Amino acid sequence: MEEMKKFPNVFEEKKGRNTFYFIRTNDKKSFFEERVISKKGELFREVDPERSKLFASIAKGISQLGIKQDSKVLYLGASHGYTVSFLADVVCDGEIYALDFAPRVVRDLVFLCEDKKNVAPILDDANHPENYKEIVPMVDVVFMDIAQREQTKIFLKNCDMYLKEGGFGILALKARSIDVTRNPKDIFRITRSQLDVVMNVVDYRELAPFEQDHAVFVCKRKSSEPIDFLNIPSIVVDQKKNFLPRKEFSKPSFRKRY
Ligand SMILES: C[S@@+](CC[C@H](N)C(=O)[O-])C[C@H]1O[C@@H](n2cnc3c(N)ncnc32)[C@H](O)[C@@H]1O
Repeated sequence: MEEMKKFPNVFEEKKGRNTFYFIRTNDKKSFFEERVISKKGELFREVDPERSKLFASIAKGISQLGIKQDSKVLYLGASHGYTVSFLADVVCDGEIYALDFAPRVVRDLVFLCEDKKNVAPILDDANHPENYKEIVPMVDVVFMDIAQREQTKIFLKNCDMYLKEGGFGILALKARSIDVTRNPKDIFRITRSQLDVVMNVVDYRELAPFEQDHAVFVCKRKSSEPIDFLNIPSIVVDQKKNFLPRKEFSKPSFRKRY
């Protein structure tokens, strides 16, 4: 098992054609029924890239995420805390502000935070970043995974308000939440052009086969000047066609390195 140089506390283990990912941890506990193993006196939790877009982007070879061991992270769309629980080990000297608007999942987050002391759960709507300005400071990283039609604008609103100059914004984008009828590659191309207006997109990965029709964009904030939203082109959505059924894709039967 080897530590991945660009990602602190993230390890990979290659076995034949398969690659497994582990996060160094201080917890003996398994939070989501993941494997916890001990090697040379250290503990590691296995993370599944099929359950986490952040770690799927690592498995797909993303070159940088800008996440350091002492980073402060605003995490939008935390859900039950699967990815947050691993990210809390990655940024073991940092902090995570983990937000979701669904009370049911935030309840699980609150339980997680009893063990992960560097995570603060927040019940709020990412579309209203002004709501949590009393709680969230300026951060090194804004990560968003909310699968909403207006996800890019919501992401930029949060970067505008909370991301330090030179900080990293990471957007996990679900193309079919924006328009189910359109080729996801078109959505990714337009999203990139939207982000390019105000951020430097430093890397981008499509996440198949871990997550179909998803991509992760890694952006760096150009300056601390307020973002001019009027310059950002919109994605035009065909409302009438928007109820076509989603095409089913088969998942890989074994884990591969891509
Ligand atoms: C795909 S799940 C996130 C999974 C999670 N990132 C992980 O890897 O474990 C999307 C989450 O975004 C939340 N969400 C959607 N729109 C939101 C909004 N406007 N504000 C806050 N949370 C939102 C949903 O409640 C849901 O829990």
